[in-house]
Amino acid sequence: MTKVPRFVPIACVLLGCSLIACHGREARQLRNEIQDDDYRSTYARAPGLQSGRTPAQGGPHGGFIDVYINEVMTDAIAEAQASGEVPQQWPEGSIIVKDGWSALSGGDFEYLSFMERREDGWFWGEYRRGKRLISAGLDDSTCTGCHASGEDEVLLFELPPYTE
Ligand code: HEC
Repeated sequence: MTKVPRFVPIACVLLGCSLIACHGREARQLRNEIQDDDYRSTYARAPGLQSGRTPAQGGPHGGFIDVYINEVMTDAIAEAQASGEVPQQWPEGSIIVKDGWSALSGGDFEYLSFMERREDGWFWGEYRRGKRLISAGLDDSTCTGCHASGEDEVLLFELPPYTE
């Protein structure tokens, strides 16, 4: 039987913890930024979801969802409408925020999920009730497994311009 040096598991545990702690810090920062922005009243609703809370499409983010996009995305949509050109991806600084609820109106706030486009990919984060971190990270494989099938990893809407 090969002996695994004792420091290997310890190093893995330490490395793992520090990676999670690091993503946790970044996720917390981004969550605070989004909440400070008062996203529910200052961000636009996502394309196709302007009428507000709607039943989810089977994702693990609560039965009913509200989806918001920040100004970088609304500007990108306006630009694509004006030029008629389809961008290759959402620009850096794009933020999508999704509230997951237990009911179509009222109900409990169950999940706060978000993604932010950075230079090297999407940074993902999800909090239970907006408070307890579930998972976070750049290209977080907990999220990309499902999201890889969407255009630019976004499942609910495509890149602009839109015809309606
Ligand atoms: C089991 C598949 C699955 C996993 C895993 C998953 N999602 Fe999703 N996600 C969905 C589906 C399906 C939707 C469409 C809306 C719905 O049904 O909730 C969605 C929608 C979203 C949206 C709205 C933008 C969009 O893509 O339409 C965000 C933001 C989001 N998810 C974040 C996350 C984060 C953060 C993680 C990882 C912590 C994650 N998702 C993991 C399936 C998944």
